[in-house]
Amino acid sequence: MSRFDFETLLKEAESFSAESKEQLENFRLRFLSKKGILSELFSKMKDVEPAQRKAFGQQINTLKKKIEERFEEFRYLYDQPVVTSVPADVTLPGEAFLTGSHHPVNLVRKKIIHLFSHIGFNISEGPEIEDDWHNFSALNFPEDHPARDMQDTFFILGENAAAAESFALRTHTSSVQVRVMETTKPPVRTISPGRVYRNEAISARAHCFFHQVEGLYIDEDVSFADLKQTLLYFAREMFGSDSEIRLRPSYFPFTEPSAEMDVSCFLCKGKGCNVCKHTGWVEILGCGMVHPNVLDNCKIDSTKFTGFAFGMGIERIAMLLYGINDLRLFSQNDVRFLQQFAGI
Ligand code: PHE
Repeated sequence: MSRFDFETLLKEAESFSAESKEQLENFRLRFLSKKGILSELFSKMKDVEPAQRKAFGQQINTLKKKIEERFEEFRYLYDQPVVTSVPADVTLPGEAFLTGSHHPVNLVRKKIIHLFSHIGFNISEGPEIEDDWHNFSALNFPEDHPARDMQDTFFILGENAAAAESFALRTHTSSVQVRVMETTKPPVRTISPGRVYRNEAISARAHCFFHQVEGLYIDEDVSFADLKQTLLYFAREMFGSDSEIRLRPSYFPFTEPSAEMDVSCFLCKGKGCNVCKHTGWVEILGCGMVHPNVLDNCKIDSTKFTGFAFGMGIERIAMLLYGINDLRLFSQNDVRFLQQFAGI
């Protein structure tokens, strides 16, 4: 086949397709460059018999048109700038921002801290892994107290069997108050927020960890009346200015006398509802006057100083305030639950 068989060249041009820029360039070199087939054909015109020159010229032109057509078609394809970003369509609806929310435990914790800092309490924190002294012994727990049982407390067993049961996950933040008393001279006015652990089966009403805020006030002449007034202030700030409190005798090893504090039901205002179990009162916290043994254990002169202490569960208060009926919701991280606190 001759290099200038028009039919074949025409077919080649017609069926040409470039799969890459490189293939297109080879096509250009073969047909359209200075040393390419077309310019060679044109230069051959002068050697053609005059009678056939017209027909020859037409053939070259047909071929040239086809070649240029194909070339342009693919050049358009490969000469496109590489698109790296799509221009913004300003008419599209905007993407909604997901606003975060405070966890209800944090909301209540912050509020409690805020209320007590207003009346001169500072904040103290301590370790979650505690020794027996700070969690139990200094707080006047007898050796055979049930809280020292493995059923109630998560003990951390060391490799050395003899050292077993000397460390535990703290069961209350009273342990932090022992640390404060050991290192601070009265007057002491502190609240201790933090996470605590108890060996409970997880259910809607109990969990193996929860959060507390405990308070401690030690000075000369601190009386039960001071405790009562402080708790009334707290209840009215937290649950509404028309709230009332009542104190029922109770028992804790580290306070004497001890009491449980109830607040008048802020939902039914005392008329009786499901939350207060139709009693008009809801139990909020434990409290009492610091036991002299505890002061002595912490090297504070119990003949000179007295003090009161109280402790409450944050989740319990959050459940009452926000109508939450399952303790497990606090730690499941379900966005549907958490989002309900956005903007609070
Ligand atoms: N430590 C007690 C508890 O965890 C609460 C409390 C604190 C009670 C201070 C009385 C005084 O249940």
